[in-house]
Amino acid sequence: MLTHLYTRNDIKQAACELLRGNIIAFATETVYGLAAPVFNVAAIEKIFIVKGRPSDNPLIIHISRLDQLSQVAVHIPPLAYTLARAFWPGPLTLILARHPHVPGIVTGGLDTVAVRMPAHPDALTLIDTVGQPLVAPSANISGKPSSTRAEHVLEDFNGKITGVLDGGICSQGIESTVIDITTSTPLILRPGPITKDNIEKVIGQPVIYNPTNEHTSGALKSPGMKYRHYAPEAKIIVLENKDHLNQVLSTTEKPLMILSNEFATAEKNIHVYPLNPKTLYHYFRQSDKNNISTIIIIHDAVSRLDTALLNRINKAAQKQ
Ligand code: TXA
Ligand code: MG
Repeated sequence: MLTHLYTRNDIKQAACELLRGNIIAFATETVYGLAAPVFNVAAIEKIFIVKGRPSDNPLIIHISRLDQLSQVAVHIPPLAYTLARAFWPGPLTLILARHPHVPGIVTGGLDTVAVRMPAHPDALTLIDTVGQPLVAPSANISGKPSSTRAEHVLEDFNGKITGVLDGGICSQGIESTVIDITTSTPLILRPGPITKDNIEKVIGQPVIYNPTNEHTSGALKSPGMKYRHYAPEAKIIVLENKDHLNQVLSTTEKPLMILSNEFATAEKNIHVYPLNPKTLYHYFRQSDKNNISTIIIIHDAVSRLDTALLNRINKAAQKQ
Protein backbone atom coordinates (compact mmCIF):
# COMPACT_ATOMS: atom_id res chain seq x y z
CA MET A 1 0.00 0.00 0.00
CA LEU A 2 1.26 3.47 -0.86
CA THR A 3 0.93 5.88 2.07
CA HIS A 4 0.07 9.39 0.79
CA LEU A 5 1.36 12.50 2.49
CA TYR A 6 -1.53 14.98 2.44
CA THR A 7 -1.37 18.69 3.22
CA ARG A 8 -4.08 21.12 4.29
CA ASN A 9 -5.12 21.51 0.62
CA ASP A 10 -5.93 17.77 0.39
CA ILE A 11 -8.33 17.57 3.36
CA LYS A 12 -11.27 16.69 1.07
CA GLN A 13 -9.35 13.76 -0.36
CA ALA A 14 -8.32 12.58 3.12
CA ALA A 15 -11.98 12.82 4.24
CA CYS A 16 -13.09 10.76 1.20
CA GLU A 17 -10.62 8.03 2.12
CA LEU A 18 -11.96 7.98 5.70
CA LEU A 19 -15.52 7.67 4.37
CA ARG A 20 -14.33 4.69 2.28
CA GLY A 21 -13.09 3.03 5.47
CA ASN A 22 -9.40 3.69 4.90
CA ILE A 23 -7.12 4.75 7.75
CA ILE A 24 -5.75 8.31 7.74
CA ALA A 25 -3.44 9.79 10.38
CA PHE A 26 -3.93 13.44 11.28
CA ALA A 27 -2.34 16.03 13.57
CA THR A 28 -3.94 17.31 16.74
CA GLU A 29 -2.41 19.81 19.15
CA THR A 30 -1.33 16.92 21.42
CA VAL A 31 -0.08 14.06 19.22
CA TYR A 32 -1.02 12.57 15.83
CA GLY A 33 -4.03 10.22 15.75
CA LEU A 34 -5.00 7.26 13.54
CA ALA A 35 -8.55 8.01 12.44
CA ALA A 36 -11.70 6.16 11.44
CA PRO A 37 -15.36 7.28 11.51
CA VAL A 38 -16.89 6.36 14.89
CA PHE A 39 -19.68 4.22 13.42
CA ASN A 40 -17.48 2.26 10.95
CA VAL A 41 -16.62 -0.95 12.83
CA ALA A 42 -14.58 -2.50 9.98
CA ALA A 43 -12.33 0.56 9.73
CA ILE A 44 -11.89 0.66 13.52
CA GLU A 45 -10.87 -3.02 13.49
CA LYS A 46 -8.11 -2.08 11.03
CA ILE A 47 -6.78 0.51 13.51
CA PHE A 48 -6.48 -2.06 16.30
CA ILE A 49 -4.66 -4.44 13.94
CA VAL A 50 -2.25 -1.92 12.45
CA LYS A 51 -1.33 -0.54 15.90
CA GLY A 52 -1.12 -3.95 17.54
CA ARG A 53 -3.42 -2.52 20.20
CA PRO A 54 -5.06 -4.75 22.81
CA SER A 55 -8.83 -4.79 22.26
CA ASP A 56 -9.53 -3.90 25.92
CA ASN A 57 -7.95 -0.45 25.48
CA PRO A 58 -10.73 1.95 24.41
CA LEU A 59 -10.47 4.80 21.88
CA ILE A 60 -11.07 8.55 22.16
CA ILE A 61 -13.83 10.05 19.97
CA HIS A 62 -12.94 13.39 18.36
CA ILE A 63 -15.66 15.93 17.61
CA SER A 64 -15.57 19.32 15.87
CA ARG A 65 -18.86 20.78 17.14
CA LEU A 66 -20.44 20.65 20.58
CA ASP A 67 -23.74 19.33 19.18
CA GLN A 68 -21.93 16.10 18.18
CA LEU A 69 -21.53 15.26 21.87
CA SER A 70 -25.10 13.95 22.06
CA GLN A 71 -24.44 11.60 19.10
CA VAL A 72 -21.95 9.64 21.20
CA ALA A 73 -22.88 10.23 24.86
CA VAL A 74 -26.03 10.21 27.01
CA HIS A 75 -26.94 11.71 30.41
CA ILE A 76 -24.46 14.51 29.72
CA PRO A 77 -24.10 16.45 32.99
CA PRO A 78 -23.91 20.29 33.07
CA LEU A 79 -20.29 19.83 34.25
CA ALA A 80 -19.42 18.49 30.78
CA TYR A 81 -20.57 21.74 29.19
CA THR A 82 -18.73 23.83 31.79
CA LEU A 83 -15.50 21.98 30.98
CA ALA A 84 -16.16 22.09 27.23
CA ARG A 85 -16.72 25.86 27.32
CA ALA A 86 -13.51 26.38 29.27
CA PHE A 87 -11.17 23.94 27.52
CA TRP A 88 -12.49 22.99 24.05
CA PRO A 89 -11.16 22.93 21.49
CA GLY A 90 -8.25 21.67 23.57
CA PRO A 91 -6.37 18.80 25.23
CA LEU A 92 -9.07 17.61 27.65
CA THR A 93 -10.87 14.27 27.16
CA LEU A 94 -14.16 13.72 29.01
CA ILE A 95 -15.40 10.28 30.07
CA LEU A 96 -19.19 10.21 29.75
CA ALA A 97 -21.98 7.64 29.62
CA ARG A 98 -21.94 5.85 26.26
CA HIS A 99 -24.64 6.39 23.64
CA PRO A 100 -26.05 2.98 22.64
CA HIS A 101 -25.22 3.69 18.97
CA VAL A 102 -21.47 3.80 19.70
CA PRO A 103 -20.01 0.41 18.68
CA GLY A 104 -18.58 -1.74 21.49
CA ILE A 105 -15.21 -1.92 19.72
CA VAL A 106 -14.72 1.82 20.43
CA THR A 107 -15.10 1.46 24.19
CA GLY A 108 -13.57 -1.97 24.75
CA GLY A 109 -16.98 -3.06 26.01
CA LEU A 110 -17.20 -0.31 28.67
CA ASP A 111 -20.47 1.59 29.16
CA THR A 112 -18.58 4.91 28.95
CA VAL A 113 -17.04 6.88 26.08
CA ALA A 114 -14.04 9.22 25.92
CA VAL A 115 -14.63 12.43 23.91
CA ARG A 116 -12.64 15.52 23.05
CA MET A 117 -12.57 18.42 20.57
CA PRO A 118 -8.98 18.84 19.32
CA ALA A 119 -7.45 22.31 18.94
CA HIS A 120 -5.90 21.94 15.50
CA PRO A 121 -7.54 23.66 12.52
CA ASP A 122 -6.85 20.72 10.15
CA ALA A 123 -8.32 18.22 12.61
CA LEU A 124 -11.49 20.28 12.98
CA THR A 125 -11.85 20.72 9.20
CA LEU A 126 -11.26 16.99 8.64
CA ILE A 127 -13.99 16.01 11.14
CA ASP A 128 -16.35 18.62 9.62
CA THR A 129 -15.68 17.34 6.11
CA VAL A 130 -16.25 13.70 7.08
CA GLY A 131 -19.45 14.89 8.78
CA GLN A 132 -19.22 12.56 11.78
CA PRO A 133 -17.00 12.11 14.83
CA LEU A 134 -13.68 10.29 14.35
CA VAL A 135 -12.12 7.80 16.73
CA ALA A 136 -8.37 8.24 16.95
CA PRO A 137 -5.83 6.54 19.17
CA SER A 138 -2.33 7.99 19.12
CA ALA A 139 -0.56 7.19 15.83
CA ASN A 140 2.16 4.87 17.10
CA ILE A 141 2.74 1.15 17.26
CA SER A 142 1.30 0.08 20.63
CA GLY A 143 3.81 0.65 23.45
CA LYS A 144 6.02 3.00 21.41
CA PRO A 145 6.26 6.77 21.90
CA SER A 146 3.37 8.70 20.33
CA SER A 147 3.98 10.60 17.08
CA THR A 148 4.35 14.37 17.22
CA ARG A 149 5.38 14.87 13.57
CA ALA A 150 4.18 13.39 10.26
CA GLU A 151 7.59 11.73 9.84
CA HIS A 152 7.07 9.80 13.10
CA VAL A 153 3.79 8.42 11.76
CA LEU A 154 5.58 7.27 8.60
CA GLU A 155 8.32 5.59 10.68
CA ASP A 156 5.64 3.35 12.21
CA PHE A 157 3.02 3.06 9.46
CA ASN A 158 4.53 3.74 6.02
CA GLY A 159 2.89 1.25 3.63
CA LYS A 160 0.34 0.22 6.28
CA ILE A 161 -2.17 3.09 6.21
CA THR A 162 -3.68 5.12 3.35
CA GLY A 163 -2.33 8.53 4.31
CA VAL A 164 -0.99 11.10 6.75
CA LEU A 165 -2.40 14.61 6.87
CA ASP A 166 0.72 16.62 7.70
CA GLY A 167 -0.26 19.27 10.24
CA GLY A 168 3.26 20.11 11.32
CA ILE A 169 4.80 19.61 14.76
CA CYS A 170 2.22 19.10 17.53
CA SER A 171 2.22 22.12 19.83
CA GLN A 172 1.67 20.19 23.10
CA GLY A 173 3.61 17.02 22.36
CA ILE A 174 1.94 14.74 24.91
CA GLU A 175 -1.54 13.24 25.04
CA SER A 176 -4.65 14.96 26.41
CA THR A 177 -5.72 14.96 30.04
CA VAL A 178 -8.42 12.29 30.55
CA ILE A 179 -11.05 13.05 33.22
CA ASP A 180 -13.92 10.81 34.27
CA ILE A 181 -16.99 12.90 35.13
CA THR A 182 -19.38 9.97 35.53
CA THR A 183 -18.27 9.64 39.17
CA SER A 184 -19.54 11.91 41.97
CA THR A 185 -16.07 13.45 42.30
CA PRO A 186 -14.34 13.95 38.93
CA LEU A 187 -11.34 11.65 38.51
CA ILE A 188 -8.25 12.38 36.41
CA LEU A 189 -7.29 9.07 34.77
CA ARG A 190 -4.41 10.44 32.70
CA PRO A 191 -2.56 13.68 33.46
CA GLY A 192 -1.98 15.94 30.48
CA PRO A 193 -1.60 19.55 29.37
CA ILE A 194 -4.74 20.66 31.29
CA THR A 195 -3.79 20.32 34.96
CA LYS A 196 -5.81 19.38 38.04
CA ASP A 197 -5.43 23.02 39.14
CA ASN A 198 -6.73 24.34 35.80
CA ILE A 199 -9.83 22.15 36.14
CA GLU A 200 -10.51 22.87 39.82
CA LYS A 201 -10.32 26.64 39.16
CA VAL A 202 -13.00 26.34 36.48
CA ILE A 203 -15.41 23.96 38.22
CA GLY A 204 -14.93 25.18 41.80
CA GLN A 205 -14.81 21.68 43.26
CA PRO A 206 -11.99 19.25 44.06
CA VAL A 207 -10.85 16.69 41.52
CA ILE A 208 -9.15 13.39 42.35
CA TYR A 209 -5.92 12.55 40.55
CA ASN A 210 -5.70 8.80 40.00
CA PRO A 211 -3.64 7.86 36.96
CA THR A 212 -3.39 4.22 38.06
CA ASN A 213 -6.94 3.92 36.73
CA GLU A 214 -5.95 4.98 33.23
CA HIS A 215 -7.55 2.74 30.60
CA THR A 216 -10.62 1.94 32.60
CA SER A 217 -13.21 3.75 34.59
CA GLY A 218 -15.09 0.59 35.47
CA ALA A 219 -14.58 -2.62 37.36
CA LEU A 220 -11.70 -3.79 35.17
CA LYS A 221 -8.43 -3.04 36.95
CA SER A 222 -6.48 -0.92 34.50
CA PRO A 223 -5.66 -3.30 31.63
CA GLY A 224 -3.28 -0.69 30.21
CA MET A 225 -1.01 -1.11 33.23
CA LYS A 226 0.11 -4.44 31.82
CA TYR A 227 1.98 -2.68 29.05
CA ARG A 228 5.09 -0.55 28.94
CA HIS A 229 3.99 2.79 27.50
CA TYR A 230 5.51 5.66 25.59
CA ALA A 231 8.79 3.81 25.65
CA PRO A 232 11.96 3.91 23.59
CA GLU A 233 14.24 0.85 23.35
CA ALA A 234 16.86 2.53 25.55
CA LYS A 235 17.12 2.06 29.28
CA ILE A 236 16.00 5.23 31.06
CA ILE A 237 17.79 6.58 34.13
CA VAL A 238 16.04 9.42 35.95
CA LEU A 239 18.11 11.77 38.14
CA GLU A 240 16.48 14.31 40.44
CA ASN A 241 19.43 16.69 39.85
CA LYS A 242 23.03 16.72 38.54
CA ASP A 243 24.62 15.61 41.84
CA HIS A 244 25.39 12.02 40.87
CA LEU A 245 25.73 12.54 37.14
CA ASN A 246 29.48 11.97 36.92
CA GLN A 247 29.18 8.73 38.81
CA VAL A 248 26.41 7.54 36.47
CA LEU A 249 28.34 8.65 33.38
CA SER A 250 31.42 6.74 34.42
CA THR A 251 29.51 3.47 34.52
CA THR A 252 27.22 3.94 31.50
CA GLU A 253 27.91 2.66 28.00
CA LYS A 254 28.19 5.34 25.28
CA PRO A 255 26.85 6.73 23.00
CA LEU A 256 24.16 7.95 25.35
CA MET A 257 21.51 10.64 25.39
CA ILE A 258 20.91 13.19 28.13
CA LEU A 259 17.66 15.13 28.37
CA SER A 260 18.34 18.19 30.51
CA ASN A 261 17.84 21.94 30.50
CA GLU A 262 20.86 22.55 32.72
CA PHE A 263 23.70 20.46 31.30
CA ALA A 264 26.09 20.85 28.38
CA THR A 265 29.13 18.92 27.20
CA ALA A 266 31.50 18.93 24.26
CA GLU A 267 31.84 15.15 24.33
CA LYS A 268 30.72 13.72 20.98
CA ASN A 269 29.37 10.48 22.42
CA ILE A 270 26.95 12.30 24.70
CA HIS A 271 23.94 13.75 22.90
CA VAL A 272 22.29 16.45 25.03
CA TYR A 273 18.77 17.73 24.27
CA PRO A 274 16.22 19.82 26.17
CA LEU A 275 13.71 18.21 28.54
CA ASN A 276 10.10 19.28 27.95
CA PRO A 277 6.73 17.71 27.02
CA LYS A 278 6.77 19.11 23.49
CA THR A 279 9.90 17.26 22.38
CA LEU A 280 10.08 14.27 24.77
CA TYR A 281 8.70 11.72 22.29
CA HIS A 282 10.77 13.13 19.43
CA TYR A 283 14.00 12.50 21.34
CA PHE A 284 12.79 9.09 22.49
CA ARG A 285 12.33 8.26 18.80
CA GLN A 286 15.72 9.77 17.92
CA SER A 287 17.34 7.52 20.51
CA ASP A 288 15.83 4.46 18.81
CA LYS A 289 17.06 5.62 15.40
CA ASN A 290 20.59 6.21 16.70
CA ASN A 291 20.76 2.95 18.68
CA ILE A 292 21.24 4.77 21.95
CA SER A 293 21.23 2.24 24.78
CA THR A 294 20.76 4.66 27.71
CA ILE A 295 18.84 7.91 28.16
CA ILE A 296 19.64 9.91 31.29
CA ILE A 297 16.91 12.35 32.27
CA ILE A 298 18.01 15.12 34.64
CA HIS A 299 15.18 16.98 36.33
CA ASP A 300 15.12 20.70 37.10
CA ALA A 301 12.83 22.96 39.12
CA VAL A 302 10.26 23.12 36.29
CA SER A 303 10.26 19.54 34.98
CA ARG A 304 10.12 18.10 38.52
CA LEU A 305 6.70 19.68 39.03
CA ASP A 306 5.21 18.81 35.62
CA THR A 307 2.82 15.99 36.55
CA ALA A 308 2.06 14.98 32.96
CA LEU A 309 5.73 14.95 31.92
CA LEU A 310 6.66 12.92 35.03
CA ASN A 311 3.88 10.45 34.28
CA ARG A 312 5.15 9.80 30.74
CA ILE A 313 8.78 9.55 31.87
CA ASN A 314 7.89 7.14 34.68
CA LYS A 315 5.84 4.98 32.34
CA ALA A 316 8.64 4.91 29.79
CA ALA A 317 11.04 3.96 32.58
CA GLN A 318 8.40 1.40 33.66
CA LYS A 319 8.21 2.70 37.20
CA GLN A 320 4.46 3.12 37.20
O1 TXA B 1 -4.27 13.56 23.02
C1 TXA B 1 -4.88 12.50 22.86
O2 TXA B 1 -5.74 12.11 23.66
C2 TXA B 1 -4.54 11.68 21.62
C3 TXA B 1 -4.99 12.46 20.37
C4 TXA B 1 -4.84 11.68 19.10
O3 TXA B 1 -6.30 12.91 20.54
N1 TXA B 1 -5.16 10.39 21.67
C5 TXA B 1 -4.75 9.41 22.52
O4 TXA B 1 -5.41 8.22 22.32
O5 TXA B 1 -3.88 9.56 23.34
P1 TXA B 1 -4.91 6.86 22.96
O6 TXA B 1 -5.82 5.85 22.36
O7 TXA B 1 -3.48 6.68 22.73
O8 TXA B 1 -5.24 7.00 24.47
C6 TXA B 1 -6.59 7.00 24.88
C7 TXA B 1 -6.65 6.88 26.38
C8 TXA B 1 -6.25 5.50 26.83
O9 TXA B 1 -5.53 5.62 28.03
C9 TXA B 1 -7.59 4.85 27.05
O10 TXA B 1 -7.52 3.77 27.94
C10 TXA B 1 -8.41 6.01 27.58
O11 TXA B 1 -8.00 7.11 26.80
N2 TXA B 1 -9.86 5.80 27.41
C11 TXA B 1 -10.57 5.77 26.27
N3 TXA B 1 -11.87 5.51 26.50
C12 TXA B 1 -11.99 5.37 27.85
C13 TXA B 1 -13.07 5.09 28.72
N4 TXA B 1 -14.30 4.89 28.28
N5 TXA B 1 -12.81 5.03 30.05
C14 TXA B 1 -11.56 5.23 30.52
N6 TXA B 1 -10.49 5.51 29.75
C15 TXA B 1 -10.70 5.57 28.43
MG1 MG C 1 -1.58 6.08 22.91
